[in-house]
Amino acid sequence: MFKAPRGTYDILPSEQQYWRYIESKAISLCNLYGYKRIDTPVFEEGGLFVRTIGQGTDIVEKETYTFEDRGKSVMTLRPEGTAPVCRAYIEHGMHNQSQPVKLYYFSSIFRYERPQSGRYREHHQFGYEAIGEADPALDAEVIDMAWQLYQALGITGLSLQLNSIGCRECRPKYLEILKKYYSDHLSKVCPDCHTRYEKNPLRLLDCKQESCQPIAGAAPHNSDYLCADCASHFASLQKYLGILEIPYNLNHRLVRGLDYYTRTVFEVQPKEEGAQSTIGGGGRYDGLIEELGGQPTPAVGLATGIERIILNLKRQNIAVPPKPKPRVFVAFIGEAARLKSVSIVKELRRAGIPSEQALGSRSLKAQLRHADAQGAKVSLILGDNELQQGIVLVRDMSTGEQRSVSQKQVVSELRNLESN
Ligand code: HAM
Repeated sequence: MFKAPRGTYDILPSEQQYWRYIESKAISLCNLYGYKRIDTPVFEEGGLFVRTIGQGTDIVEKETYTFEDRGKSVMTLRPEGTAPVCRAYIEHGMHNQSQPVKLYYFSSIFRYERPQSGRYREHHQFGYEAIGEADPALDAEVIDMAWQLYQALGITGLSLQLNSIGCRECRPKYLEILKKYYSDHLSKVCPDCHTRYEKNPLRLLDCKQESCQPIAGAAPHNSDYLCADCASHFASLQKYLGILEIPYNLNHRLVRGLDYYTRTVFEVQPKEEGAQSTIGGGGRYDGLIEELGGQPTPAVGLATGIERIILNLKRQNIAVPPKPKPRVFVAFIGEAARLKSVSIVKELRRAGIPSEQALGSRSLKAQLRHADAQGAKVSLILGDNELQQGIVLVRDMSTGEQRSVSQKQVVSELRNLESN
């Protein structure tokens, strides 16, 4: 027996209403905030992600699905959505458009992680990127849109974690200070932190090991060592968030798991759990497009995991609109009525009334049971008598009441019923 691969799953019809609901809310917000949809390929040249996410990161070192295709090119299933969008921005000369270019996507994302609740090997993100503008008001807008999405969905108890990790100019100085601080504590930190100390010191702050917590907690804050430009950018962002009435916690340990970030980084977290449960995250990445061979181009964006949104909707018992049900079920007795039922269903559907037809050779009772199971509001019943008289029985499925209606009028009657 084949099964869905570990860490992946089928989105069954019974779950689809969550997905459609989230998508519709997200798309309305994108229209409201002026973002346009982009879709990029599921796989890209592997180098794209190594260059942008960073060699020393968990994603690139341990989690990518990378393979050589039959033409011997190395490809990677996208482990995130930002780098592909930036690649497309450069490839299609979008710097010639009026800036910022604001793009959104719904993408499947592949990471070879240890599967657990809310963590999959294939997950789905709603993400958006605003490219070509450094104004901190844009960082605030990006955060605002996510905040409005969670509010529109009715999810409560979320907190916004915010930090600034500086730029190419000021970060090296901070990293020196951080390394100097850690050099006095190396005997007490975990083995992974020893590697981080050598390869990617910023990530020392992100360590989850119990023994490293007090050391990371007391580490110097990046935001205290920002250059004048980064400091004023961060101060302005906080002012804008105040105007937008978005509460935030400054979190000096927030560094994110991808190397391309500059200045602003943020994550939205539910109250209940730790970092594994992060519902959305993002930040500014002013160097990424240049790193890919484009012109120096500031940009900021965010992605939110759809599965994690659904987890929170369910956890908070938030009902989503039910999936549409057929209004009408057409049942028949006998072969002549069968033919007529096909023609009536055709007319109903052509008139835009969701309808189902009886199939096979079940008894009328079984057909009506099926109509009930499908959630039909009304069943039409046709037999030889009805054929002779040119009528059809209209049965209200909730009360069981039946009345006869002329076959010619049944579609307009049902249409009126629907609009009532
Ligand atoms: P990320 O934080 O790696 O950022 O992922 C974004 C969101 O995807 C997370 O907050 C989480 O909700 C969800 N997610 C991540 N991994 C998994 C997983 N294994 N299973 C289920 N959900 C998961 C990015 O990917 C950046 N590209 C975000 C961004 C956009 N930064 C700038 N623009």
